[in-house]
Amino acid sequence: MEIATERAASPPTVGGVKVLGLHKSYGKHAVLHDVNLDMAEGEVVSIIGPSGAGKSTFLRCLNYLEVPTAGTITIGDTTVDAGARRPDRASLDRLRRVTGMVFQNFNLFPHLTVLENITLPQMKVLGRSREEANAVADSLLNRVGLAAKSDQHPSRLSGGQQQRIAIARALALSPKVMLFDEPTSALDPELGLEVLAVMRDLADEGMTMIVVTHEMHFARDVSDRVMVMADGRVLELGPSEQVMTAPTHERTKKFLRAVLDR
Ligand SMILES: Nc1ncnc2c1ncn2[C@@H]1O[C@H](COP(=O)(O)OP(=O)(O)OP(=O)(O)O)[C@@H](O)[C@H]1O
Ligand SMILES: [Mg+2]
Repeated sequence: MEIATERAASPPTVGGVKVLGLHKSYGKHAVLHDVNLDMAEGEVVSIIGPSGAGKSTFLRCLNYLEVPTAGTITIGDTTVDAGARRPDRASLDRLRRVTGMVFQNFNLFPHLTVLENITLPQMKVLGRSREEANAVADSLLNRVGLAAKSDQHPSRLSGGQQQRIAIARALALSPKVMLFDEPTSALDPELGLEVLAVMRDLADEGMTMIVVTHEMHFARDVSDRVMVMADGRVLELGPSEQVMTAPTHERTKKFLRAVLDR
């Protein structure tokens, strides 16, 4: 079984993200091979690549929604080592607390109002009072432009609105890094734009973000670097403009031609 121990973060990663030698197998099927990533605080990395490349698995390993087979993950000052002996509940909890995740299908609680979706996790996870949680929620709802929807249930909202609520819910827990797994791919293009605008603001405000996306404009214009994955490996990782306009890898060129021609 996989295990977590805590270690001091190495100096360059303070506030940032460092992934070393991440492997993931399902039985005999290896889906991630030696994935490495070192991000400064405030950096935005987009992950692109064909279906089945391991993009979601990589993201889900970062907060242990999937348990990696080997490797170490450091986020802020929390390190989890998948090769160590016994699971350390406390450092896993800390790792999850510093990562906010936004999924393709929003995953809001349907039986709660918009406001409750954002306040209950704060009360449960961070022990905030209802008043504190309400204040944080109000400010975040304003930030994503949805203050008027506070008392609605998610099913009454458009997909783009639901996704902005999901972002607000994640931000309410004050994460150090935000992980996005194709946050706009379930949306009509226009609704996707609302969500991308919120993400662009977040990036401008200095949030550290890892974004799996098929939005090539976002990858090129908003992220600092682009990581290309195929077959469970990182094919290339470099400045966005360079990777998007002059990729070094033949497989990247083929992938970019396919998505840009669509
Ligand atoms: N629970 C699982 N059990 C077995 N294999 C899995 C499991 N989850 C994912 N895989 C396999 O891992 C590989 C990577 O899947 P992953 O979902 O990470 O790809 P992806 O790059 O996110 O693809 P997409 O662009 O389609 O979302 C695939 O071959 C997939 O079949
Ligand atoms: Mg995926």
